[in-house]
Amino acid sequence: MNAPLPPSAPTAPGGLLLIGHAHHLARAPLPFITSLREYGRVVRIRIGTTPAYVVTDPALTRQVLVTDAAHFAKGGKIIDALRVFFGDGLATVADGETHLRNRRLMQPMFNKAHIATRGSAMIDQVSAMVGAWQDGEQRDVFADMNDVTLASFLVALFGTDLPAHLQGEFTRLMPEIMKGTIRQTILPSWVTRLPLPANRAHARRVARLRTLIDQAIDHHAGRLDAGTSIPGDAAGCPHAGRQAGLFETLLTAPEPLTRQHLQDEAITLLTGAIETTGATLAWTLYEVTRHPEVERRLRAELAAVCENRTLRFDDLEELPYARQVLQEAVRKYGPAWMVTRTATRDIDLGDHSIPEGADVVWSPYLHQHDPEYFPDPDTFDPDRWGPGSAATIRGAFLAFGDGRRKCIGENFAWAELHIILAAILQTWPHLELTSRPPRPQAVVTVKPDRLDMVFSRRTATVSPASVG
Ligand code: HEM
Repeated sequence: MNAPLPPSAPTAPGGLLLIGHAHHLARAPLPFITSLREYGRVVRIRIGTTPAYVVTDPALTRQVLVTDAAHFAKGGKIIDALRVFFGDGLATVADGETHLRNRRLMQPMFNKAHIATRGSAMIDQVSAMVGAWQDGEQRDVFADMNDVTLASFLVALFGTDLPAHLQGEFTRLMPEIMKGTIRQTILPSWVTRLPLPANRAHARRVARLRTLIDQAIDHHAGRLDAGTSIPGDAAGCPHAGRQAGLFETLLTAPEPLTRQHLQDEAITLLTGAIETTGATLAWTLYEVTRHPEVERRLRAELAAVCENRTLRFDDLEELPYARQVLQEAVRKYGPAWMVTRTATRDIDLGDHSIPEGADVVWSPYLHQHDPEYFPDPDTFDPDRWGPGSAATIRGAFLAFGDGRRKCIGENFAWAELHIILAAILQTWPHLELTSRPPRPQAVVTVKPDRLDMVFSRRTATVSPASVG
């Protein structure tokens, strides 16, 4: 006798006839996605008329990403829409031989020793930008964090002496490109192909971005041909001693990459690297202003390691409390909140069956707000990550994904997060929030809707009016 088929997953309440749960995802995506936990370990929702299965248990998500990865392919509507823009870059290329080959090719770009060769250049770039802010001026912190992150990433990727106009144009273009790309993923694909002004403007910007990337690649390739080098700072790394950026790995690949492929990888890396780290830093600074004790401990650790000198790359390993603070910001604020896969055949997940071709959704944000693993999940508590923190909470931390599609930039992200946080704290003894507490907005990442701060060189003083 055949075993009975497992039941299909429970459906989340509140779906409407033609739009399904799309209105919840559009209006209040984070409360909606975290609410699904109460209906089961796998919950069926509908986006329009198409069903999608949301995994609410981190152990099942690991099954999707690692153990049964062969049956849950990278895909889904969002990825299909992004492929128009990223081409076959690493994040959007389908699972299979091409992905594996490109992943093997790119992995050395982001190993720790190779990143270390770019350490001092990144620190110089970040310190110069952060040091140029006006004392006491009110600043849009999310925009600033994206700009600093972009500039330090360009220095890491393409080397130190990119023509200034390139950096300026990248900085102006990227926020518009991100907005346009989100629009493309939300709208039906036939609307994005109509000759509407917004579609034409997006296409023009993407074309311009590809031109800028070409110029950056040409510039970098020119330097490699000229053999420019300086003493390296990462003993044992084959790239030590060269001033080239991380992109050298692709420019000198044994089998030369086509120009289109180089562009696709550069666009993928730029978009993957900027808003994720930018949003994390903005939230970190916000939490630091709310928790004076966290700020005090961060500053004390930094002072003990650096005394009065500027940060060096090898200091980063000596800043465990900064790592706890950054990890807690990554936990609390996602920053990825919705990632998709497609079931390649009928398959059981937990107690339920998922039909072939269905979209499967997993959400780092959802898992990282699960009170079973993170008690009081809305509280910002860096001590969760202190020495001896439980393996169970590390198992539910899925911010960088897992398995063969795990974030390739994780080491880079930690290095960059530490550098930028340290540079800001070293340069500015006093940070003050000047806007109301920000609301998290889930778009590409979970970003603050508005976050203004004043950075000043004076330390906090007690005004006479507030004494006694
Ligand atoms: C806080 C920072 C970051 C977070 C939270 C993050 C998160 C993620 C996640 C969740 C994935 C997996 C998506 C999936 O499973 O489908 C991913 C993939 C990826 N990330 Fe990141 N990321 C961050 C920073 C970066 C940086 C700095 C880079 C570039 C240097 C980068 C480049 C990529 C690429 C290329 C992939 C695709 C990997 C593949 O499919 O093989 N990310 N990231």
